[in-house]
Amino acid sequence: MNIIFLGAPGAGKGTQSAYLKKQFGMAVISTGDMLRQSVNEKTPIGIKAATYMEEGKLVPDSIIISMLKERISQPDCETGFVLDGFPRNLKQAGELDHMLHQKNKSIDLVIYLSVNEDDLVDRIVGRFVCDGCGKTYHETLAPPKKEGVCDVCGHEHFSKRKDDNKETIQARLKEYHRLTMPILPFYEKQGCLAKIDGMRPPNEVTHDIVKVVKEHQTC
Ligand code: AP5
Repeated sequence: MNIIFLGAPGAGKGTQSAYLKKQFGMAVISTGDMLRQSVNEKTPIGIKAATYMEEGKLVPDSIIISMLKERISQPDCETGFVLDGFPRNLKQAGELDHMLHQKNKSIDLVIYLSVNEDDLVDRIVGRFVCDGCGKTYHETLAPPKKEGVCDVCGHEHFSKRKDDNKETIQARLKEYHRLTMPILPFYEKQGCLAKIDGMRPPNEVTHDIVKVVKEHQTC
């Protein structure tokens, strides 16, 4: 299956993609993670993308679309993938359809996680990530079981994303409403959109996601 996670910054796309990877062994493609890696490695893409990301703006389509095209052509995506952070506007959604059509494939399911705006800001401001394995935590909502130690890899160093501050989150939310929200009717018309209430605890959200994925698999 080819699945897209749609939702505002902080809606839980990364958290839930990680569960799908664990549960179904699917390839997860996070364009945000790919870009952050490029920024850290100071690659030409990373150097171009850094300013946009720090300002909470979308990175230009020309950069992101070729990056995505290359990634979904890799062998681990042959049997299906989960997209976290792509598409972010109608141009990207159209290009994705085109890319998949050329491979006789399509998007099977678009999972939209809805969360209210105040909660999004709290989630983002409190988020931190394990430097060892990239597992995402939250200071109060989802802390590690043992303080200061990653549940998954035992690492003891964590960091915060540069764009996870109150100022940048407002810019990211603005971009989301202006450019990403219009994608919802695009997929609704295609009949593959599943809306899930992302305001509940992560395991309850996961339960509903697994249900819609399984229902879809049996179609
Ligand atoms: P990206 O990395 O994609 O960030 P985002 O979309 O802003 O989403 P986030 O990663 O912030 O949130 P999430 O929904 O994954 O939430 P998470 O699970 O971590 O993009 C960053 C930047 O890269 C963009 O601004 C742009 O510049 C660029 N970019 C990326 N893709 C691009 C594209 N296609 N085109 C152009 N530019 C692009 O959860 C958040 C927190 O909440 C965590 O602490 C978590 O523990 C907690 N949490 C999760 N679920 C729950 C729950 N149910 N209850 C309570 N807490 C929860």
